[in-house]
Amino acid sequence: MAVDWDALRASAVAVSARAYAPYSNYHVGAAALADDGRELVGCNVENAAYGVVLCAECGVVSSLHATGGGRLTHFVCVDGRGEVIMPCGRCRQLLFENGGNDLELLTPSGVKRMSDVLPDAFGPDDLTGDR
Ligand code: THU
Repeated sequence: MAVDWDALRASAVAVSARAYAPYSNYHVGAAALADDGRELVGCNVENAAYGVVLCAECGVVSSLHATGGGRLTHFVCVDGRGEVIMPCGRCRQLLFENGGNDLELLTPSGVKRMSDVLPDAFGPDDLTGDR
């Protein structure tokens, strides 16, 4: 079945309103689907110690595991104006761990696969050998 990207984006927009971003004033909302159809959302949560910030993607990944686990299949994140943005580099790594190369992302330039936005990613398979 085709994924309703508009609905997933709307969920990201809705949760962006809950972002705690008093330092950057840059609100981010993220929404994803899991392989059982569950929807996960997250928003960014900043900290007076600026480097301790939790990106919106962290919330999505925590929610994935907290609500039963599984794999991410579809993902989108937006800014406070509702515009689709790219996940930061660190969060691409988080998403790769939990969705792999087949994870589809809605980006400012259309739907892409994880392998397009984090090519040749380092991941769980790399830890199986030399230890
Ligand atoms: N941010 C996210 O939540 N996700 C991203 O992928 C990019 C950046 C947040 C972190 C910080 O609270 C604010 O956006 C500005 O960098």
